[in-house]
Amino acid sequence: MVMHKRIRIAIDGPAASGKSTTARLLAEKLGYMHIDTGAMYRAITLKALEENIDLTNEDRLTDLARRCSVTFERDQSGNRIFLNGRDVTQEIRNPEVTKNVSLVSSHPKLREVMVELQRLLAAKGGVVVDGRDIGTVVIPDAEVKVFLVADVDERAKRRMADLQKTGITTSQQQVEQELVDRDYKDSTRSASPLRKADDAIEIDTTHLTIDEQVQKIFEYVQKKYCLNNEN
Ligand code: DC
Repeated sequence: MVMHKRIRIAIDGPAASGKSTTARLLAEKLGYMHIDTGAMYRAITLKALEENIDLTNEDRLTDLARRCSVTFERDQSGNRIFLNGRDVTQEIRNPEVTKNVSLVSSHPKLREVMVELQRLLAAKGGVVVDGRDIGTVVIPDAEVKVFLVADVDERAKRRMADLQKTGITTSQQQVEQELVDRDYKDSTRSASPLRKADDAIEIDTTHLTIDEQVQKIFEYVQKKYCLNNEN
């Protein structure tokens, strides 16, 4: 099998639709880099909370985003994210960050800084980028665009399982409510809201395992961009 070019794959969708895990595994399968843009907004949110910045102050947050270095490194466990050289992979998943990240990421000027960085990271190709506005704003000319959806109760179950692994206990009802709130904020904000790109393929993952989701996208990519040597 010959992959003719190192393409850019955009994966968007609501919270807990399986974007990050799917993107990570797909990137591993293709030997590509995974760029988790949600993690980037979370890293800035973590820093803003640590510096006690008013999260409604767009200028201060934008300035913070300009001053921060956000980088990814890959190891056996997947992507690790560094904020000014400090590994914040675990911390960015804490409930305080999760509660506030939609507000921080709603500011248009801050988004401009983040989008510029995301475009730079994706520029060389050979990337799987996941988020909310990748196919619509960050890489509107991405070769492959995928929009993942799943029923909210299934998404809440997945999020609960993730939280339990990190020792956080909470109720299914509370997790579901948080997801509904975050979906609402992410899809109704004025700056690049969560939206399916017109040319994205939509995959409902409610009844799919992670491996099935990855396989579906992998096959789609192969069909579009690979030629079999024997043909
Ligand atoms: O994918 P996630 O749950 O880690 O994303 C955290 C938040 O970041 C999400 O609520 C919305 C925001 N986000 C965004 O606005 N644009 C992106 N490209 C990625 C995430």
